Amino acid sequence: MITIHPANKPSAKPDPKPEAAATSAEPASPSKVIAVVNQKGGVGKTTTAINLAAALALEGLSTLLIDCDPQANTTGGLGFARDEARASIYDLLMGHTTADKVILPTDVANLSLIPGSKNLIGANLELVAQDRREYRLRDALAPIRANYPFILLDCPPALDLLTLNSLVAADGHLVPMQAEYFALEGISELMSTLDRVTQSFNSTLALEGVLLTMYDDRTNLSQQVTENLKAFFDDKLLKTSIPRNVRLAEAPSHGKPVALYDPKSRGAEAYRELALELLTRNNIQSPEEKRRKAASAAAASSL
Ligand SMILES: Nc1ncnc2c1ncn2[C@@H]1O[C@H](COP(=O)(O)OP(=O)(O)O)[C@@H](O)[C@H]1O
Ligand SMILES: [Mg+2]
Repeated sequence: MITIHPANKPSAKPDPKPEAAATSAEPASPSKVIAVVNQKGGVGKTTTAINLAAALALEGLSTLLIDCDPQANTTGGLGFARDEARASIYDLLMGHTTADKVILPTDVANLSLIPGSKNLIGANLELVAQDRREYRLRDALAPIRANYPFILLDCPPALDLLTLNSLVAADGHLVPMQAEYFALEGISELMSTLDRVTQSFNSTLALEGVLLTMYDDRTNLSQQVTENLKAFFDDKLLKTSIPRNVRLAEAPSHGKPVALYDPKSRGAEAYRELALELLTRNNIQSPEEKRRKAASAAAASSL
């Protein structure tokens, strides 16, 4: 039996100020910033960041994807060549430029990118000496946040200052993980780090969900790990899981999200389902959902 220390269980957070929210005339912020985080490498963070962002964009929602990893796999996976001379998230974190100047359009309608760069390797050290070093990304995104219903941050495989900047800038974090024994070992550490971030820097950061990636529901181990995760995370374990699908692994070498590379593949279907699940959980109706509803209402009335 695999167990996780109960002290690290994600706490059920009380609604911050229910009365204030109910009486406020201010509309709820239309923008949601989600950090895709797990200190372990190879668990599907980048694959999830690219393909979830593309699926949200294809639902008709302006989406900004930010590559916060020095490996810049998100940038490469969307077809952008490695180019250290191009302005990137590094320049934004260092205060050399503003967000509107580093945003690039992509081949996916409604999807924009702030590219990563190898220069980020130095950022961890350089940031230490800077003012408000944990808040650099949050401050830099403030002027453009409202332009995007969704902003996704692809984090590096480390709990470093880059990941901390992402978590401080985020409203929610999404944790991709594989259903394997060793994945569970890191979860306690991740959850206690996230709790510390919430207490010290960002009291409104909430767990958006835990996503099973490269999932194979035929194995006993997958099923056992899933049961344990369900007991631990309850409804924070997302209903959608992402199957192992070779199209997802191939798509980045073609510089495309799977939705453009092979829209009918199981991988594309799973990320679309994930986007719809997150929209439902956040009570957001996308332009495409409205269009589908109108079309089915029209079809029903013509019967
Ligand atoms: N569902 C999947 N099916 C098949 N291969 C996958 C899947 N998700 C990720 N991969 C592959 O696994 C490797 C690690 O995934 P990646 O998203 O880069 O992880 P991370 O960003 O957490 O390091 C990559 O080669 C990627 O193409
Ligand atoms: Mg990655």
